[in-house]
Amino acid sequence: MEDIFSKLERLKKERNAVILAHFYQEPDIQDVADFMGDSLALARQAQQTSADVILFCGVHFMAETAKILNPQRTVLIPDLEAGCSLADSAPADEFSRWVRKYPDHTVISYINCSAAVKALSDIICTSSNAERIINSLPEDEKIIFAPDRLLGAYLAKKTGRDLKLWHGACQVHEIFSEQEIVRLKVRHPQAKVLAHPECTAAVLQHADIIGSTTKIIQYAVEGPETELIIVTEPGVIHQMELANPEKTYIAVGNTEGCSCNECPYMRLNTLEKMVTALETLSPEITMTESLRLAALKPLERMLELS
Ligand code: 13P
Ligand code: SF4
Repeated sequence: MEDIFSKLERLKKERNAVILAHFYQEPDIQDVADFMGDSLALARQAQQTSADVILFCGVHFMAETAKILNPQRTVLIPDLEAGCSLADSAPADEFSRWVRKYPDHTVISYINCSAAVKALSDIICTSSNAERIINSLPEDEKIIFAPDRLLGAYLAKKTGRDLKLWHGACQVHEIFSEQEIVRLKVRHPQAKVLAHPECTAAVLQHADIIGSTTKIIQYAVEGPETELIIVTEPGVIHQMELANPEKTYIAVGNTEGCSCNECPYMRLNTLEKMVTALETLSPEITMTESLRLAALKPLERMLELS
């Protein structure tokens, strides 16, 4: 009988499909992906692919970004319910009303938002390029940053800019426990702490390296330390173990002290749902052409600036 891996391989050929996956996907999905990356790398890859079908193993806003950038392709997501608490925190109508209160501000939105919110923004950014994008604007430019208030606060501190912040947060990164990190640091005094900038300021003050998932993986694998405390979704540890199995990667629990630090949306995707998506060519990401064009503008500005 054909196993699930051979089935996926066959369907991929039949559909002329490419599998893109984020680092927070479960290890089996990472292993069958043609390309892995953080939000910025995945957006670039989606723009460049010539495959007929993009099977996007990540969350909805990422697959939607792929469609905005490459509308000729059929973009599939294994589970349509794979959302994001940050994207959900900014409903477009509410966001539009809020933005209208600051007509003289430039709106920078983190890529973790819906196409409708992108369409209301001037520039999109990711965790890899947010600092550079803010710094590329004149010092006296008034800026709105949305939807992540924690990333926004971190960027305001880093760039010295006074950013108007929307109130969203990532439900995974928001609950990492400072106490737990301090406890792990005492237990592993040689370890370096690597954290994603969606964490709280209380957590980030203990970090040696703050950055995107790519930056965290790269440092963990290439840096001199043999023990690393990883303060982001533990999916990233799979790539670290593949690239450098000699080191010790320590995942951090959340405020309840458990290890339930996995993104519940990312983890909705499974190999079985990937097979169904390629068999049925659904769920497919679709949007009106006018929305796509409006959301494309700030994304193109991001790609030019990064
Ligand atoms: P990266 O772009 O750093 O991979 O982050 C995506 C994300 O959703 C973090 O929670
Ligand atoms: Fe969204 Fe947080 Fe999940 Fe990233 S980890 S996709 S920001 S809910």
